[in-house]
Amino acid sequence: MSEAEPELAYLPVAYREHVERVLIPAADISTRLDELAAEVSEDYAGTELLLVGVLKGAIFVVADLHRRLAVPAAVDFMAVSSYGSATTSSGVVRILKDLDTEIEGRHVLVVEDIVDSGLTLDYLLKNLRSRRPATVEVLSLLTKPSRREVDLPIRYVGFEVPDVFVVGYGLDFAEHYRGLSDIVTLKPEAYGA
Ligand code: IMP
Repeated sequence: MSEAEPELAYLPVAYREHVERVLIPAADISTRLDELAAEVSEDYAGTELLLVGVLKGAIFVVADLHRRLAVPAAVDFMAVSSYGSATTSSGVVRILKDLDTEIEGRHVLVVEDIVDSGLTLDYLLKNLRSRRPATVEVLSLLTKPSRREVDLPIRYVGFEVPDVFVVGYGLDFAEHYRGLSDIVTLKPEAYGA
């Protein structure tokens, strides 16, 4: 940990040593979620939402967004696996866990941690639209526009990030670092380099 980033003191030492730098501090995430939740609440005033969180990365976004909403919202989750390397996806998507509920005629808000190439979300949106919801929109905490391979309508975006691999606030590398309150980049040695 460098002296410039004392907020990392809460981390397990093994994780702290792997952090390169804090890209988005927890306080900024919280402020941005306040803004997004206000927007969503205004846009969906008078309706009822179904938040569809994409496991596992979106768990904190779903929880923290839900707690800020001023409209009634149900929550459901999907888990998908996209085939690819450890840090990129291929667009070949398999549903590991489907929704527990029917979405026909409902207002669905898909909640994502990050949209990178967009291939996973593109598949998911096509799949969800085929179930005839009243509306489907997307909220993603992060987006990497420079990596996009398909044009996607992301209605609510938290932050644009550069083409770097980030972890924390739900995002993992090999299932680690999800619990970090901040969004950070990792040193090369964290990837086993
Ligand atoms: P896409 O299909 O390329 O848009 O990939 C989306 C998924 O890849 C996300 O839901 C994440 O699980 C994962 N992913 C993409 N970029 C990152 C990153 O920088 N850190 C952690 N996971 C990422």
